Amino acid sequence: MSKILILGANGGIGRLFCRKARDAGFVLRAMVRNDEHCSYFDSQGIESVVGDLEGSFAHAFEGCRQVAFVAGSGAATGGDKTLLVDLYGAIRAVEESEFRGVDQFVMVSALRVEKPLEAAPALRHYMVAKLLADQRLLESSVPATVLRPGRLTDDHGSGCVRTLVDPGSGFDISRENVADCIVEAFRQPSAVNRIFDLLDGDVPIPEMIMRGSSQPM
Ligand SMILES: NC(=O)c1ccc[n+]([C@@H]2O[C@H](COP(=O)([O-])OP(=O)(O)OC[C@H]3O[C@@H](n4cnc5c(N)ncnc54)[C@H](OP(=O)(O)O)[C@@H]3O)[C@@H](O)[C@H]2O)c1
Repeated sequence: MSKILILGANGGIGRLFCRKARDAGFVLRAMVRNDEHCSYFDSQGIESVVGDLEGSFAHAFEGCRQVAFVAGSGAATGGDKTLLVDLYGAIRAVEESEFRGVDQFVMVSALRVEKPLEAAPALRHYMVAKLLADQRLLESSVPATVLRPGRLTDDHGSGCVRTLVDPGSGFDISRENVADCIVEAFRQPSAVNRIFDLLDGDVPIPEMIMRGSSQPM
C-alpha cells in the first residue's frame, strides 16, 4: 500500500486523521515541525518526520504517493504566517507533489473561500490565501480532492455531514467529521477531482463521498 504524507499532522484534524487512517490500515508519515512531537507519533505506531512549511520539507515526501494538507497558521498568528504557511507553504507542497507525480493530494481548505470579500473582514486575507492555494492545486497535474469545511468544532464526530450550505442549520463541522472525510477521500476513487463543501449533517460520510454530490472541478 502506498504511503500518505500528512502535512500538519500534529494539529487537531491531523492527529484525529492519523489515528483513524492508521486504524483503517493506511501507511502514514506524519510531518511535524517540532521534533518533540515525534514521540507522540512513535507512541501511536506512526512514522514521523520533521519538516517546516516555512522552510525545508521536500525530504518528507520521499516514498509517499499521497498527501494530506491539514496544516494551518492558526488564528493566534498574524497575516505574515497566513502568507507563509496557508498560502506559500500550501503552494510549495502542491509544487513538490507535482514534481514527484504523487497520486492524490487532499487539501483541507475552507467553506466559501471562493467569496473572500463576503467573509468577516478579519478573515478575508485568510480566505484569499486558501483560495489561491486551492487554485494552484486545481491547476496542477496532481489528482486532487478539496475539502471545504465550515467552522471547526471539537465535538465528537457524528459520522454524518452535508454539502449544502443552509444558514438555518449553522456553519459548524467537527474536526472528527473532517478527519473521517479525509479517510474516505483516500479510500474512494470517486473523490478524486472533486470539491466538497462540508458541514455537520445527516448523510453518512462514506455515502456522501461516494455520491460525489458536490462540485466537480
Ligand atoms: N478553524 C476553523 O474554523 C477552520 C475552518 C475551515 C478550515 N480550517 C482549516 O483546517 C485546517 C486544520 O485545522 P486544525 O484545527 O486542525 O488546525 P490546528 O490544530 O491549528 O493544526 C494546524 C497544524 O499545522 C501545523 N503548522 C503550522 N505551521 C506550520 C509550519 N510552518 N510547518 C509545518 N506545520 C505547520 C501546526 O503545527 P504545531 O502543532 O507545531 O503548531 C499544527 O499541527 C487548516 O488548514 C485550517 O486552515 C479551519
